[in-house]
This record gives sequence, structure tokens and C-alpha cells, in this order.
Amino acid sequence: MNVTKEKLKDLIRTKLHNAGLSVEHADGVADVLVYADARGIHSHGAIRVEYYSERIAKGGINVNPDFSFEKTGPSAGLFNGDNGSGHVAAKKAMDEAIKMAKETGIAVVGVKRISHSGALSYFVQQAARVEMIGLSVCQADPMAVPFGGAEPYYGTNPIAFAAPGKDQKMITFDMATTVKAWGKVLDARSKNEPIPDNWAVDQHGEPTADPFQVNGLLPIAGAKGYGLAMMVDILSGILLGLPFGNRVSPLYGDLSKGRDLGQLHIVINPAFFTDLETFKQNISQTMADLNNITPAPGFEQVSYPGQGSALREIESEQNGIEIVDDVYNYLISDVIHSNKYGNKDPFAK
Ligand code: NAI
Repeated sequence: MNVTKEKLKDLIRTKLHNAGLSVEHADGVADVLVYADARGIHSHGAIRVEYYSERIAKGGINVNPDFSFEKTGPSAGLFNGDNGSGHVAAKKAMDEAIKMAKETGIAVVGVKRISHSGALSYFVQQAARVEMIGLSVCQADPMAVPFGGAEPYYGTNPIAFAAPGKDQKMITFDMATTVKAWGKVLDARSKNEPIPDNWAVDQHGEPTADPFQVNGLLPIAGAKGYGLAMMVDILSGILLGLPFGNRVSPLYGDLSKGRDLGQLHIVINPAFFTDLETFKQNISQTMADLNNITPAPGFEQVSYPGQGSALREIESEQNGIEIVDDVYNYLISDVIHSNKYGNKDPFAK
């Protein structure tokens, strides 16, 4: 089903509000989800609404959180999300980080005790829009086998980075430290499509192309991706005094309890390090250089990270967003949730 951005946002906002979120928070979450769908990151868009609605309805996302921000040093701060919507808390925490980096050149803000916050590039782009570099990492529930291991320990622990170029253009790099995010497997399940056999392993630790047989995600580039996932867990978990490793609360566990997840934002103000205009010029030059690299056989052009998604965002604005029918039918229905997600094995079919 093809829907406009405005219509999709309205449907998501209404559903989340009917599940129990305030209009303000429902609007904040909807903004992040529609951003993801518009950029083609369907794994973190409308497909998640029913899960969030079930968690909201069962009390596992605090609908009236007591958000607070404490500046703990000249360039450091902690945002307490009180287990409210991660999307809203992470956005507000990034606003605080930007404010600090304007003054001090750099800001490191920990976002404590939140629920899932979606596609991380949304938050780093907040920084890039005001001419700063944004970096964000967050914990996710244990779904990835460590290199050489046969059982999951770390989450898909994503890393996002954005840097501003000229004319509001930017480079946006945003990836799970697993070959693919769990949401991509969910997306394949919703479309009944196979996945490449290098994304995940089955219950025997063997590579699988069947999204319904996945029992552990593989880290990117073996030991190197596993090391990155560990770094993310230390920065967004251990550093913030939160549960870490396989103690991170599962996505589909007790939906009546908050998840106590962590996220860390780092904002760097280029103006404290170099001439800002030259910095932006050189980021734009990097984008152009990369586009002008001779393409390898089978490629039309080298893209810079985030280029495809930025183009898709413009297309979505013009031609609407393609949403799978099941998700659309759920969004337009009166159903809040169908008890699908509680107390399930994370890899349950
Ligand atoms: P992906 O594999 O689709 O893309 C990863 C990166 O590679 C992107 O920056 C993309 O622009 C770049 N890229 C892809 N193809 C390219 C090409 N041909 N040329 C140049 N660059 C290219 O992303 P992935 O790993 O599947 O993650 C999807 C989303 O899931 C992200 O937004 C991430 O933040 C989110 N996520 C959120 C989690 C959470 O708990 N909140 C957990 C895990 C992932």
C-alpha cells in the first residue's frame, strides 16, 4: 500500500495514542518511524507499531515519564528517560548535547533507562542539521553470536554518525554491528522472502536463508564486528551503570516492565577544531570524490553512506511510501495489539 508521509504519520500517531501514549510522545515516536520508512529503513518504521502498542498497553513503556537531564561536567551529562519512549528521550537528550557542544566544542550525553529508540541516524542528523558532527550508539537485546560463539551475547548494537556538508547536505552512516539488523529479518518475514545466508545462523549455529529459522545474528566482519558490538555495549551500558551483555532486557520479554536500555550521544562542534566553512566544504568534497571514484564491475556509481536513503527520502516526499499491506491494515484497524509479542523467545516465528 502506498501512503503519503503525512497520512502514515497520522495513522501511527493515532494508534500509539490509542495505545496510551500522550499526543506529544505519540507524535515524537511517529516522526522517527516515518523518517525510517521514508528513507527505506522499513525494519525500523511502521512495522514496529504493533509491538510498541502492546508494550505501551501492558505498561512496559512509561506513558508519563519523568524525564530529567543532569549536567555532570562541562561537556558531560546524563539524561534519564524513566523508561518512557526511547525515540522521544533520545531526541531530547540530543538537543541537550547540541546545546553543550555549542558552548564547549564537544558533548557526551548518556541516555539512561529508555525503551527502543529506532533508527539512530535520526538523532545524529539533529546534530548535522546544526553544523555539528553527531555520533550515537545504543544497546540492543542479545541476539548476536560473538565471534567463535554458538549462543547470543551482544545485541545488534548500532553505531550512527553524521557530518554536515554544504547546503544542508550530509553524510549519514548508520549500521547495526551485525551483518543486518534484526528488523531486516522481521521485514523479510513480513514479506515471506528468504534472507542471504550470511546474515544469521539457525539453532545449530549453521548459516540459514530462512528468516523463520534464525536463532542468532552474525557480527559484521567476524571478530571485528564483535569488537565493535562490545565497544557499543561498554559505552551505552557499562559506562551508564546499566545492565550489559546478555543481561540487557529482551525485546519480547515481560512487556509490563521497562527495558532500562542505554544510548550514548557524542556531539563534536567542528568550529572548535577547524574553520567551519572549510570543514563543510571538505565534507561536500568527500561526497563528490566518492561519487567520482571509478565504479567496480556491476556498480553504476560509488555512493557515499546515506546517499541512497537521502534520495529515497526525496522520492517518498514526492511519491509516497510503500508499506506492506498487513502493517497498513493493522494501522487502519481498531485493533491496538493482538498479544503477539509478550514473553516470546526473541527468535520465535
Ligand atoms: P544497512 O545495512 O541498510 O546500512 C548500513 C549503512 O551502510 C548505512 O549508513 C547505509 O547508508 C550504508 N550503505 C548501504 N549500502 C550502501 C552503498 N551501496 N553504498 C554506500 N553506503 C551504503 O543498515 P542496518 O545495519 O541494517 O541498520 C538499519 C537500521 O537499524 C539503522 O538505522 C540502525 O540504527 C537501526 N538499528 C537500531 C537498533 C536499535 O536497537 N535501536 C538496533 C540495530 C539497528
